[in-house]
Amino acid sequence: MTTEPLRYVEPADPGPEIPLLGGDVTEGLVRIDDTVRRPVNDASIRVRGVLDHLASVGFTGAPRFLGVDAVDRDVLTYVPGEVAGRPWPSWVGDEARGLSVARLVRAYDDAAYPLGVPDWAAGARPADPAGCPPPIAGAPTFLAHLDITPENVVFRSGRAAALIDFDLVRPATRVEEVVNLLLWWGAWMPEEDRDPAFRYVDPASRAADLLDAYDLGSADRSRVVEVAHNGADRSWHLMRRNALERGGGWQRMWDAGVGDRILRRGKWLGENAAALNAAIT
Ligand SMILES: Nc1ncnc2c1ncn2[C@@H]1O[C@H](COP(=O)(O)OP(=O)(O)O)[C@@H](O)[C@H]1O
Ligand SMILES: [Mg+2]
Repeated sequence: MTTEPLRYVEPADPGPEIPLLGGDVTEGLVRIDDTVRRPVNDASIRVRGVLDHLASVGFTGAPRFLGVDAVDRDVLTYVPGEVAGRPWPSWVGDEARGLSVARLVRAYDDAAYPLGVPDWAAGARPADPAGCPPPIAGAPTFLAHLDITPENVVFRSGRAAALIDFDLVRPATRVEEVVNLLLWWGAWMPEEDRDPAFRYVDPASRAADLLDAYDLGSADRSRVVEVAHNGADRSWHLMRRNALERGGGWQRMWDAGVGDRILRRGKWLGENAAALNAAIT
């Protein structure tokens, strides 16, 4: 991982650059023919390493890393299929769709697991900002995706086929991965903050079904709610720092009230802890 990344060799007659919209954060993202170009950033080392590992074990539910182009952009394969944009289509709340995401995340986690926490990824976590509660999830076991939003899942024939956008990959545990799954596909937030697509979803019973589809073990299940609560408390501090230090899309999300949403989620998790635990353990 310390060697220079592969140079991407352009085809003789490349097509036009088509801007890719819909993500919150990455500026300058474009599609050219069957490739996606992402400006190299501080996540690139981890993203390339994970994607190369996934390719080496034959995991097909992720883009491939093809190299770096002449203007310093990571070149990934374009994954064909359907991705939710904003506003989310109502199918984002469909149970069968959500369960297929849970199975895909399990397949990704299993494929990523043998890589463990390599040296080139272990140092990815800066010290917590002042006032941030320490993590309770335990020692990281693998490089989790941790950004399983509807915009980051490619569907084909109505089933989740691939994860994209590995910018937030970091050493974590299965429980932390599942907490992220429940946030985006299990409606684990107060009703007032739920997207209309999740209006009729019951967070307790949907969570039980998602964890069954992921096949989470019983010891891990008993930790999900407390890790979710701790994660909400921590993410308020971490998102705030990203907004202050990295600006751009992080600042826009913060200005749009993401911090207050996270505070409300923490409160909701506290109030509903007993019912959620009963449903999933
Ligand atoms: N490899 C890919 N294959 C197919 N579509 C992609 C790919 N990468 C990005 N996209 C599309 O571009 C959008 C934004 O890309 P993403 O990597 O998620 O950026 P952001 O960091 O802004 O969220 C995605 O929601 C998806 O629609
Ligand atoms: Mg994205």
